[in-house]
Amino acid sequence: MDPRTITIHDCDFSTYMYEEEIIARIVMLAEQIEQDYAGKNPLFLAVLNGSFMFTADLMKRINIPCEISFIRMSSYQDMQSTGHVKEVLGLTENIEGRDVLIIEDIVDTGHTVNALLHQLQEKNPSSLEIVTLLMKPECLQHQLDVKYVAKSIPNDFVVGYGLDYNGLGRNLRDIYKIVS
Ligand code: IMP
Repeated sequence: MDPRTITIHDCDFSTYMYEEEIIARIVMLAEQIEQDYAGKNPLFLAVLNGSFMFTADLMKRINIPCEISFIRMSSYQDMQSTGHVKEVLGLTENIEGRDVLIIEDIVDTGHTVNALLHQLQEKNPSSLEIVTLLMKPECLQHQLDVKYVAKSIPNDFVVGYGLDYNGLGRNLRDIYKIVS
């Protein structure tokens, strides 16, 4: 298939991963997770907004008993420090003693997942792992053990399949990367 070029806001993007490849990778990930969590009733925590499409396609292929819930990360300026502090919003489940898997769209610097791991770890889950559709290993700024990765990609900005560029592009069924 020839790459398709689209324009979102002021930037051009061309097709990078077609839906068929995305789904094939999700099928493999689902098989791995099913094997690892058989008999464990895991709790999936999907991080909105970016992971909504990935979560739906992944969960349709997980055929063991499991639960799914949705959380968000807020970002606010901490008055005590210069950095951004991210806080988990919307977690209503008691995760103590549970086998928890975080579902992310993309791990870039790792700030978001790192903050999430620290906050969830304090609630004493039995286990805690990350499932991500995409990962940019060159950008990672934290020591993170990301167990389930559908695909590692170079340091290019991507949109589609849940990922946005200033609010647009989440509904695209393929993934596009920025044309530099
Ligand atoms: P991190 O905290 O730097 O790992 O960034 C994680 C969040 O930034 C993701 O959940 C996305 O919402 C957003 N993000 C990072 N890279 C991209 C990208 O290439 N396209 C769209 N969103 C991205």
